Amino acid sequence: MLQMIDDRETGPGAVVINRADYLAPAYWIDTVDLCFDLDPAKTRVLNKMTLRRNPDVPAQPLKLDGEELNLARVLVNGQGTSFKMEGSQLVLCDLPDAFELEIFTTTCPSKNTKLMGLYVSNDSFFTQCEAEGFRRITYFLDRPDVMASYSVTLRADKAKYPVLLSNGNLVAHGALEDGANGARHFAKWVDPHKKPSYLFALVAGQLVSREQRITSRAGKEHLLQVYVRPGDLDKTEHAMTSLMHSVAWDEARFGLKLDLERFMIVATSDFNMGAMENKGLNIFNTKYVLANQATATDVDFSNIESVVGHEYFHNWTGNRITCRDWFQLSLKEGLTVFRDQEFSQDLCAEASARAVKRIEDVRVLRTAQFPEDAGPMAHPVRPDSYIEISNFYTVTIYEKGAEVVRMMQTLVASINDPLGRDGFARGMTLYFERHDGQAVTCDDFAQAIADANPMSDLARLLPQFKRWYSQAGTPRVEALGAYDATARTYTLTLSQTCWPTPGQPVKEPFVIPVGLGLLGVDGQDLPLQLEGETSALAGTRTLVLTQDSESFTFVNLDAEPVPSILRGFTAPVVLEFDYTDAQLLHLLAHDSDPFNRWEAGQRLAVNSAVNAIKSIAVSADGTCANVLNDAYLGAMREVLRHPTLDSAFKDLVLTLPSETYLAEQLDVVDPQHIHAVREAMRQQLATALKADWEAAYAANHDTGAYTPDPESSGRRALAGMALTHLCLAARTSGDAVWPGKTLQRFKDAGNMTDRFNALAALVSSSHPLADQALALFHAMFKDEALVIDKWFSLQTSAPDRGGNILPAVKQLMKHADFSLKNPNRARSVISTFCQGNPAGFHRLDAAGYHFWCERVIELDALNPQVAARLARALDRWSKLAEPYRSNARQAITRVAARTDLSKDTLEVVTRALGQ
Ligand code: PHE
Ligand code: ZN
Repeated sequence: MLQMIDDRETGPGAVVINRADYLAPAYWIDTVDLCFDLDPAKTRVLNKMTLRRNPDVPAQPLKLDGEELNLARVLVNGQGTSFKMEGSQLVLCDLPDAFELEIFTTTCPSKNTKLMGLYVSNDSFFTQCEAEGFRRITYFLDRPDVMASYSVTLRADKAKYPVLLSNGNLVAHGALEDGANGARHFAKWVDPHKKPSYLFALVAGQLVSREQRITSRAGKEHLLQVYVRPGDLDKTEHAMTSLMHSVAWDEARFGLKLDLERFMIVATSDFNMGAMENKGLNIFNTKYVLANQATATDVDFSNIESVVGHEYFHNWTGNRITCRDWFQLSLKEGLTVFRDQEFSQDLCAEASARAVKRIEDVRVLRTAQFPEDAGPMAHPVRPDSYIEISNFYTVTIYEKGAEVVRMMQTLVASINDPLGRDGFARGMTLYFERHDGQAVTCDDFAQAIADANPMSDLARLLPQFKRWYSQAGTPRVEALGAYDATARTYTLTLSQTCWPTPGQPVKEPFVIPVGLGLLGVDGQDLPLQLEGETSALAGTRTLVLTQDSESFTFVNLDAEPVPSILRGFTAPVVLEFDYTDAQLLHLLAHDSDPFNRWEAGQRLAVNSAVNAIKSIAVSADGTCANVLNDAYLGAMREVLRHPTLDSAFKDLVLTLPSETYLAEQLDVVDPQHIHAVREAMRQQLATALKADWEAAYAANHDTGAYTPDPESSGRRALAGMALTHLCLAARTSGDAVWPGKTLQRFKDAGNMTDRFNALAALVSSSHPLADQALALFHAMFKDEALVIDKWFSLQTSAPDRGGNILPAVKQLMKHADFSLKNPNRARSVISTFCQGNPAGFHRLDAAGYHFWCERVIELDALNPQVAARLARALDRWSKLAEPYRSNARQAITRVAARTDLSKDTLEVVTRALGQ
């Protein structure tokens, strides 16, 4: 059932879809035979399907989804038939129980700026069907629980579209009779696997490919291909290597083999998202494929590895077992993010590199997902309703969903399997035994993991554990410690609360695994023995909090320990413990858990920042007095000078919490004040540690021949960070040496990471040399779109000084290389500014909000998905101090007042105002 919401408020056709209203489809589609005559202005699509009535539901008309299609012909069993249109659906009545349906439509790919369905990019054809794009190609039951066998014939001009690809195996190809414009050809593809329509794909154009033949452990041959535009072949090696690693890893860790003769990746520069897991024919944003050392940074290399892995892992988690309905999206996304995170960690040679990856993942969760969970778009990992499903491809579904899967792994651990890896792998095996080839729910997944581990905490607590799927909001865990010197015991009391979220005023307690260690005065882990136990366990153990409040008493402790709570970030919660600075310094110096060691440094910085925001005034020029104390500076110096810690880890510890993260720690947010305080902290770190930054640069700047491995990328990151601080220090000292060296480094660099870091050091310290370097950089890379994106976003994310960034952004939008139609480019300028530069965006004069308002409206007419994401820049408006708050609300109201908004943007702004 669909529920209409008030027409005046949401425009016609904006209906709320509810999870509780799920009904099985009235018909099944067994086979689909598609024939495309590809033409940018008018592509003809002939769709022949075989259907049968679903005997499990009452007889009813067939209603097929369609959008922006020109319908030419409908035949049932070869005969003309009567049909009607209900909204955008094609409705057929009085059908036999089984029949053949033939539908002929046309579309105009060249005018498709939404990039959903069939579209043209750089004269090639691409498709994007998830979640509901297939209905823009042909009339269909466009829902993931309808799985069919596809065969696809592509016909096109041979010179313009030499490469014709679709899912599965190539079974025929050849010449056609000449068309009006010259020679034409065709290719026919058959997919051996049944699939939902959202996994359909086709590609046609002038492309070249890197190929690799591999033989599986079982002796099977497979062909791997990476297709790109001619000229980009020298940027495909890393994607191919990552793909080969992915194939090997899924087989080694989960016993999941490649089930296709041919696996293809195709890159396009016009793409709304990161990449798409179409069966056997993944389509990627170029950003996550193309890399060589001259054009891509270490971060790009590592993102490519994880996105290639992610899409490949979907071949099992998503494609072989798919979602029953879109409310189950995290069934495939949360699980697949968990898998790609584990993949990246398993590829690390060193334990310290694994820890760095974990910290990076948690940082994303806390800076992006926690705010989402506290704002107007908060939704459970399995949402209850939506207006536009595209709006629910969120950090909650992806990153929090991955944490929920990670907690399952933690909760199936046992003495012989302390991390739960074996238990979890057994659960995956059972999941595939039960559900391979099906469209299922998150319940089915959790049940399989629990059933495969009947003695586990997960099995014991499953119904309560599943509250992670149904309740939105980030739980807060408050911890209190009490040491009893006479009894030699330490009692840790853990209490949980979760604030209301839209539609969920009251929350029930969650199951929260809490990794715990206790540090002695010497910094060593103490043996942990709970009251009533006969022996102690060394190191970390997992407490499982299930009640509102629970106490755990540890015995045989000679002195008060320092607790290291939530080690490894075992649950997606906010941990509150009233640490003294001395305790945090102790953890920072000694904790055996790298995550909590890093976290101690972050807490110290957050405390200083929050105190300063409450007590220190900002002077008229936007600066403020010293924020950091000597103890903190001393600790940072020690980390920077540490003889054995990884450079990558040092880089993370020395990175101050972001302005967005700091804002989340406050009840009322003044973005200018936060910015001034954080900039003061950066400046202080730069000046006070100048000699140490020089030493760090000296020790890290030479990383030899370029390879993107964690060890040498960590050293490049730390060298870059040192340069930034040395240029910052030069601001106050007037020193010209380091900015000069930085410019030289920029010019001489042997790879993009070093070059870009040097450029960023000049830009982020607003040094006069920055303009020269920026101009040079543009000239060097004017033909490399992805590098030009970096050039734009570096400028739009630069630290605001006296309101200088918004005028620069407006100027950049007039640059010949700017385009609103290309999502990567539009995001590099507009989203980077509105979502990645709080102080530039939140201006006292509200000019940032005016800018946002205009861009959202402009973009919405072109590409609703990109617009709706930008619209979320003001999600947290109600936390802002005045006058930001009122001005922001006015801007949102102005967008919401438009009568021609897409349902994507409409849903976002309506929810924002609903707060
Ligand atoms: N399913 C894709 C992924 O996570 C993301 C995506 C969603 C891409 C919708 C395009 C459109 O891998
Ligand atoms: Zn995914």
